[in-house]
Amino acid sequence: MDANIIEVTNLSKYFDDFQAVKGISFAVKPGEVFGFLGPNGAGKTTTINMLTGLARPTAGAIRINGSDAVQDIAAVQQMIGIVPDESNLYDELSGYDNLVFCASLYGVRKRERERRAEELLEQFGLADTGRRPFKAYSKGMKRKLTIAAGIIHEPQILFLDEPTTGIDVESARQIRRLVRELNDGGTTIFLTTHYIEEAERLCDRVGFIVGGKVVRIDRVTALMGEDEKEYIIEFTLGEGNSRPEAGLDQAMLQAFPGVKINRVDHRRLRVIPEKREPIAGFIKFFEDAGQPVYEAKIIRPTLEDVFVRITGIEIAKMKREKEGRRKR
Ligand SMILES: Nc1ncnc2c1ncn2[C@@H]1O[C@H](COP(=O)(O)OP(=O)(O)O)[C@@H](O)[C@H]1O
Ligand SMILES: [Mg+2]
Repeated sequence: MDANIIEVTNLSKYFDDFQAVKGISFAVKPGEVFGFLGPNGAGKTTTINMLTGLARPTAGAIRINGSDAVQDIAAVQQMIGIVPDESNLYDELSGYDNLVFCASLYGVRKRERERRAEELLEQFGLADTGRRPFKAYSKGMKRKLTIAAGIIHEPQILFLDEPTTGIDVESARQIRRLVRELNDGGTTIFLTTHYIEEAERLCDRVGFIVGGKVVRIDRVTALMGEDEKEYIIEFTLGEGNSRPEAGLDQAMLQAFPGVKINRVDHRRLRVIPEKREPIAGFIKFFEDAGQPVYEAKIIRPTLEDVFVRITGIEIAKMKREKEGRRKR
């Protein structure tokens, strides 16, 4: 097994007497995409800031590539790239000049800085706007340039704090693709998000973080596998109402003992048999009852189902909170 590239032990952060991060421990392997998923105020930014040397832990240890990142952040700075949730670039400088400036901070040589800046503008679809001042960029363009700046020195590990929050759908899609490409090229990714779909699509492993605590860490596939034990078939029936709903459900319970039935709406119902069985029997049952079946599909669990079960947090609420905060 590979050594861990990031190792965090009992990490805590207090702001005065408020504990924002409560003794969390986790490890990330080289080449992984690891994500922290949690609602507003969970402690994601505080954690990422400690990992990247932007905030000092109150207690605990952080090792990055074997170096002590708390005592000696300088030793790890060249290995890591940082993309904060709010941009850290200069409004008055052009996109190109921002990139060249960031490269100089990392000690990249002049010729190489200019080549890298051009290359990244091209890669991020910003070649046409590279000469415009940063302040004239849209939110999506700003976020892309901030990511370009974060990887100008080709770091081994990239930290991204909510990379797609608050930007347009197309830019978000491009960013997810870029993150995957970087990871395919060998970059280890640590990201935070409050978008469940993003964690599901991008991450190999996720940690659920709530109220400063990590309540669960696992591979996305393993988390979803747990809920897959329940086998759900959703049927969409015709408008024909030869039998009232309750009567139909009663008849089904008799025909298929042990089955559970959840009504989604007047045409759709979810059937949970005790064990896996062919769906043909159910279709025949509906047709015999004068209810043509328009669609039958197996419902796969989503990461959302798992997150809700483990944390008890409703996703809709999580999104509302976040967006409310951003508007202010
Ligand atoms: N500089 C600070 N001073 C005091 N409290 C803070 C500070 N930064 C964050 N907090 C608090 O710590 C908690 C975690 O915040 P944060 O890490 O930003 O959460 P997240 O990024 O998950 O939304 C929140 O309750 C927040 O209000
Ligand atoms: Mg945050």
